[in-house]
Amino acid sequence: MTSTATRPRGARARAAIAAKTLRTDRWWFAPLITVIGLSAWVAYATVRVFQHDNYWVDAYHYLTPFYSPCVTDRCVEAASHFGRFLPGWWIIPDAALTLPFLLLFRLTCYYYRKAYYRSFWLSPPACAVPDGHKEYGGETRFPLLGQNLHRYFFYAAAIISLINTWDAILAFHSPKGFGFGLGNIILVLNVVMLWAYTISCHSCRHIIGGRLKHFSKHPVRYKAWTFVSALNVRHMQLAWITLGTLALADFYIMALAAGWFSDLRFIN
Ligand code: FES
Repeated sequence: MTSTATRPRGARARAAIAAKTLRTDRWWFAPLITVIGLSAWVAYATVRVFQHDNYWVDAYHYLTPFYSPCVTDRCVEAASHFGRFLPGWWIIPDAALTLPFLLLFRLTCYYYRKAYYRSFWLSPPACAVPDGHKEYGGETRFPLLGQNLHRYFFYAAAIISLINTWDAILAFHSPKGFGFGLGNIILVLNVVMLWAYTISCHSCRHIIGGRLKHFSKHPVRYKAWTFVSALNVRHMQLAWITLGTLALADFYIMALAAGWFSDLRFIN
């Protein structure tokens, strides 16, 4: 039985039921699919980040988001829009300036927290299914106390989305000047989805519309808050969609850079 010391305030002790859970539906499916999906994505991203190759298509100025901005002295000069000031050691990602913040932004995201608490920590794996741990401390102690820093990682993520947007604009390039191909569609799609995910953040919603007593006195902020709130409802979907668009953009550019196939060009 849960002790009063570890039970959330106001919660009652669990009824004395011998069965682990009375649920008969496939409650384990969501945690399982989350573990598979997140593990596969992290494995792919880790391999790509430390590959240090096939991240730039010189003819069309395509740069994969996994290497943006490219800041080590190993980076191709044309792909280094912010300089090459870090040493090109194998252990240092070429986008070392941004990747840690992106990782922390996702790691502390309200949706991802729910996802990995349930699936990796089984805390709890689903509603009406017991916690996989004897104690429950919530996010009141180190290291989970750090989840409160999410609002600051939001600001970093917004700046990084601006950088990705700049990359997508620069990619409208061809050896003849302006150019447009399938790679552009993929990069723009990725950037639009990244903005949708970033703006739909719960912290963003609070920054835009929080601490106001009267919405009627702040019509612009109210409009913005209404827009963000509509996106916020889809935050979980956007979290997964952006994992997909990031992987797609990276894979497509890797394939072009490796010469597996050519870009489908519409103009130049
Ligand atoms: S809550 Fe998910 S990104 Fe902020």
